[in-house]
Amino acid sequence: MKYLVIGSGGREHAFAWRLKKDEPDAQIFVAPGNAGTAQLGTNVPIAVTDLEALVAWAEKEKPDLTVVGPEAPLCAGVVDLFEAAGLPIFGPNKAAARLEGSKVYTKNLLLKHGLPTAPGACFTSAADALAYSRAHAQFPQVLKADGLAAGKGVIIAKTATEAEDAIRQIMDARVFGDAGNEMVIEDFLPGREMSVHVMTDGIGYKLLPISQDHKKLLDGDQGPNTGGMGAYAPAPFATPELIARLEGEIVEPVLAAFKKEGIDFRGILYIGIIWTAAGPQILEFNVRGGDPETQVLLPLLATPLIEVLRAVREQRLGALTIEFQKLYAVTVVMAAHGYPDKPRTGDVITQIPEESSNVVVFHGGTVQKGNNCLSSGGRILSPTAWGEELTTSRQEAYRNTEKIVLAGVHYRCDIADNVSLR
Ligand code: GLY
Repeated sequence: MKYLVIGSGGREHAFAWRLKKDEPDAQIFVAPGNAGTAQLGTNVPIAVTDLEALVAWAEKEKPDLTVVGPEAPLCAGVVDLFEAAGLPIFGPNKAAARLEGSKVYTKNLLLKHGLPTAPGACFTSAADALAYSRAHAQFPQVLKADGLAAGKGVIIAKTATEAEDAIRQIMDARVFGDAGNEMVIEDFLPGREMSVHVMTDGIGYKLLPISQDHKKLLDGDQGPNTGGMGAYAPAPFATPELIARLEGEIVEPVLAAFKKEGIDFRGILYIGIIWTAAGPQILEFNVRGGDPETQVLLPLLATPLIEVLRAVREQRLGALTIEFQKLYAVTVVMAAHGYPDKPRTGDVITQIPEESSNVVVFHGGTVQKGNNCLSSGGRILSPTAWGEELTTSRQEAYRNTEKIVLAGVHYRCDIADNVSLR
């Protein structure tokens, strides 16, 4: 079999790794890929947003399945284009991808269907946004640019001045470009954040193990927001009772709302949840697997990944039992000097541990230049380990992280630590 994975991060390395592990004879192509994916197959030098070139490549090479990692090509309609050309692809279509592509669309949908979410409103002008922010003078306040903003479009303002500044940055200065044509303002909800990944074929669904990402740059959840500095799964606090509430109060009503709206979602729906004193509330929808959550979910999967992806595409997920190993996985993100604002690139990386039966180092921002593996992005590597105890998986992930030599690297030292408190 021949597979194309679209993307170049740790998540896409994890998809490619899992496909190859299940099927060692498979031919793996990754566009554009990284130094890690190059070891599994062939990198294809096409940008994730160059949809025409991706379709042209797939028409020529005829992969048996294309798997889309990041949100940008999904929101741009890569699935619709592939399907129109008769090319098998895994991921939601453009209409469904709006759930991540437009915060305003999603907020209106959540409010319309009475789904659990923070009180808030949507705006098309800075003046109206400012008036609302001042009238609802309750801080922190959450301000979201409508469109995709490379993970930077959500600002938590602690004061009225910070809120006003954020509104002006988003809607007047247009720091996120057209993503700031509209915006959402909502109440800040205190609680425990968790990542809820739902595999759905538009008819039924399967819940994947509940995971937790660590979004802040520094230990103790300090510093600026990032794309994610590490993750673990399953979260020990996700008891059967908690999972039953997530399904009954969030997943099922959300999928019912999608049906009422005519949204045909087939793929991975990642619901960002905050568990407040009032129970679970929806923070956001993502229309793809989380990065770094995918790096901890895929090593735990006992069912071959391709069987799951095919069942989703063919809308027979209900008949499939997805098994997970009863283990815990931990991944630590190794980030570049200067990340997230100005990640330095071009640093040489050495001493990357070999894959073993319970460890793999997923690559994100890396590139192979001759004999050297160089950093090429903000989140560079995610050493991942799994085992019977969360604590030992954590130790193993860190033991491997510490072996890697990379100038200026930064990583958190408290991934999966004190999880009962998070
Ligand atoms: N882990 C955060 C994200 O994938 O959006």
